[in-house]
Amino acid sequence: MIFAASDIVLAAARLREGGVVAFPTETVYGLGADAFNEASVRHVFELKGRPSNNPLIVHIADAAGARRCVQAWPAAAATLADAFWPGPLSIVLPKHASIPEIVTGGGPNVALRSPDHPLTLALLRAFGGPLVGPSANRSGSVSPTTAAHVRGVWPLADVLVLDGGPCRIGIESTVVSLAGAEPKVLRPGMITPHDIARVLGRGVTFEAPAPDGGPLDSPGRLVSHYAPAARALLVENTDVAAAARPGCVAIVIRCELPPDVTTLRLPDDAPAYAAALYDTLRRADGLSPPLIVIERPDDSQDQRWAAVLDRLSRACAPRVTG
Ligand code: TXA
Ligand code: MG
Repeated sequence: MIFAASDIVLAAARLREGGVVAFPTETVYGLGADAFNEASVRHVFELKGRPSNNPLIVHIADAAGARRCVQAWPAAAATLADAFWPGPLSIVLPKHASIPEIVTGGGPNVALRSPDHPLTLALLRAFGGPLVGPSANRSGSVSPTTAAHVRGVWPLADVLVLDGGPCRIGIESTVVSLAGAEPKVLRPGMITPHDIARVLGRGVTFEAPAPDGGPLDSPGRLVSHYAPAARALLVENTDVAAAARPGCVAIVIRCELPPDVTTLRLPDDAPAYAAALYDTLRRADGLSPPLIVIERPDDSQDQRWAAVLDRLSRACAPRVTG
């Protein structure tokens, strides 16, 4: 990938001045700001329209950067960072006193991640400190996987957008907490509980999504999230044809539908499906259909489908806040 060194210098300067810079990662684009600058972090919450009790992930270049953000760096964290960083895994640990409470939504723990994107790793090194980086979308809507998805959401004066091309993974990182007695996955992603358990040599639990109104220990666990504006319905393969009336958009894997239904096809492979999912939801939404019907993938063969199904269920969930 080609990018200009001057872009990084400009972006790092903007961050130092307390500004906000959208950066590419391998998962989705993030809305970056200096994690130590409370006013900048507050601006990120305002831009996203995000409740202040939803904590932000802190991005660092490497494990050495992460250690400075936590009280202690346990062996399990070192093992996971060695195995998966830079990469799509966020590790939750008790925060260092220097991390402002606004970053962690008032809570005692901080989520840390080293993103696998050369442009953003170069930015983190040039800036020289940790950056908060929630997905660069307004709260509750579909996460951005291209620079074009971010541009136009906010004025350039508010958010400088670094273009690192389309995101390779396409859905948000796995969030694993090492803050309790047992490692616990709080948000599923392309790194599965099985992958984590194999590397740690011990069992890992998965905490099921909180019901509406439950504690917000993970924003991605809100029931309605990653949602298009149009109503969306997740249905079994056998029910797609009946649900997709003329004029609807159908997002399918195997189903064949009549030409009066706009059909967007995704591959029967969890990583490839995830990589295309958000852009496809946006394309479907752009047609302003009365309904988007989504064929439920068969998740029996590959644990990575759990992360895809998590996002699909939220995209289709009834809206709590409208
Ligand atoms: O892939 C990603 O993680 C992207 C890119 C930009 O790095 N970022 C992202 O951030 O998805 P956001 O803010 O949209 O989602 C934050 C997620 C929440 O679902 C929550 O589970 C978790 O991070 N999180 C953040 N801080 C936490 C904490 N202190 N304790 C528990 N979970 C936390
Ligand atoms: Mg998000």
